[in-house]
Amino acid sequence: MKRIVCEGPNSLRGEFIPQGSKNGALPILASCIIFDTLVKINNVPDIQDIHTMKSILEGVGCKCEYVNNSLIVDSRPIKSYQISWELASKMRASFDLLGSLVYRFGKAIVPFPGGCLIGNRKVDMHLWISKQLGFNVKIDSGNVIVEDFNPKNVNTEISFWLPSVGATKNATFLGLFVAKETRKKIIFHNVAIEPEITYLWDFLSYNGLKLSYNLDKRILEIFPSEPKFSSLIMVDNIYDRIEAGTFAIAACATRGNIIIKDNDQEKYSLKVTLSRLWELLSSIGVEIGFGSDYIELKAKNRLKSFEVSTDVYPSFPTDLQPQAVSLATSIEGISVIVESIFDDRFVYVGELLRLGADINVVNNKFAIVNGGKKLNGAPVKATDIRGGAAILIATLTAEGKSILTNTYQIYRGYEKIVEKLSKLGANIFEETEKILEVSNV
Ligand code: UD1
Repeated sequence: MKRIVCEGPNSLRGEFIPQGSKNGALPILASCIIFDTLVKINNVPDIQDIHTMKSILEGVGCKCEYVNNSLIVDSRPIKSYQISWELASKMRASFDLLGSLVYRFGKAIVPFPGGCLIGNRKVDMHLWISKQLGFNVKIDSGNVIVEDFNPKNVNTEISFWLPSVGATKNATFLGLFVAKETRKKIIFHNVAIEPEITYLWDFLSYNGLKLSYNLDKRILEIFPSEPKFSSLIMVDNIYDRIEAGTFAIAACATRGNIIIKDNDQEKYSLKVTLSRLWELLSSIGVEIGFGSDYIELKAKNRLKSFEVSTDVYPSFPTDLQPQAVSLATSIEGISVIVESIFDDRFVYVGELLRLGADINVVNNKFAIVNGGKKLNGAPVKATDIRGGAAILIATLTAEGKSILTNTYQIYRGYEKIVEKLSKLGANIFEETEKILEVSNV
């Protein structure tokens, strides 16, 4: 595995083009199973999680080809409704295939996801929704088995107790199956409305599946329908708002000046999907200019400390919480960052302390950052995707050399991150990790 070497302090300057969205591509990939044809998705990032999803799809029999950031999935040869633990354990989002496998086969066997690096991520609502929709749900040998659909047991109007992203994806696919089988409308209340979810809904609607949504009321309605036949379905992925947000925060933490290319399609533009980030950055003194297809950020030397709390979209994203903590370490004064989605998302803070940051995490709920202290380069370890990105941001601001290991976590979500940072002027490179020679003496 490569490790990342960074010599700081740095100041990021120049133009940045975001990658295709990881969390946007994954549900579209899951949806390929419901279309009995070829689907070509453009602008798919070349990252580990996408390759894992590709292997999972191949594992159930799909034929996949990834060339130049386009992924073609042919689900016609699919033969299995069971995902292996070996592949599922690499990525939680594999659980999102449960709904699309049920759509195709009427049943699915998917490994029960365990805890993960950012907390105990439950799937109880996924299971409850499956039961409400008339399926029998069992847990056996570590697998969730959803099968034996009975139309008599269908509840056609279901309220989520929290707007879970994953549960909304599965409910969408399960709801499409149930609406088709029963010829009844299925209504979900309190669904997630993250842009990656509405993009999935728009994609499904465009391809013949009847659904409508109300973002203000968080309602999704699914009507009886079948996919429209096409020998090749094509879709362009949206920009990755979390990658773009990470670079925006890195530019501010390093007091840089960057221009981020934006999508000119208003609904999925970064200007809109990251609006809470722009509000926060502008409130602390960052100059932000919005063009028709770009966003320019200029960070002055003195920024103001801040308070921010993560929450479901359209609030501040939890996937930018660690990066916001890194930003706070660069700003003089006390900042408070509250995490309200995950129960253990401050693991990376230990690595920031190794660089000299002054941070107190209280009850795993919020971080109090006493910022403005000079950070010094050190050997550090990426803890998880976004925590790893936050540590990388801190190494950019730290004085001297840092060596970041366990970079697999970062490459799960960020394409060519070192090359992109280097193009923005950072003194950063990758090197192959040295393997320790063990001698007998
Ligand atoms: C998705 C994103 C992830 C992001 C998160 C929140 C993907 C691949 N991942 O994750 O990057 O951080 O949304 O925006 O798109 N919960 C329950 N019961 C359930 C389901 C969820 O209690 O049945 C809880 C979880 O434990 C977690 C919270 O709800 O604490 C959020 O989960 P969810 O919105 O489902 O996020 P993911 O789909 O896992």
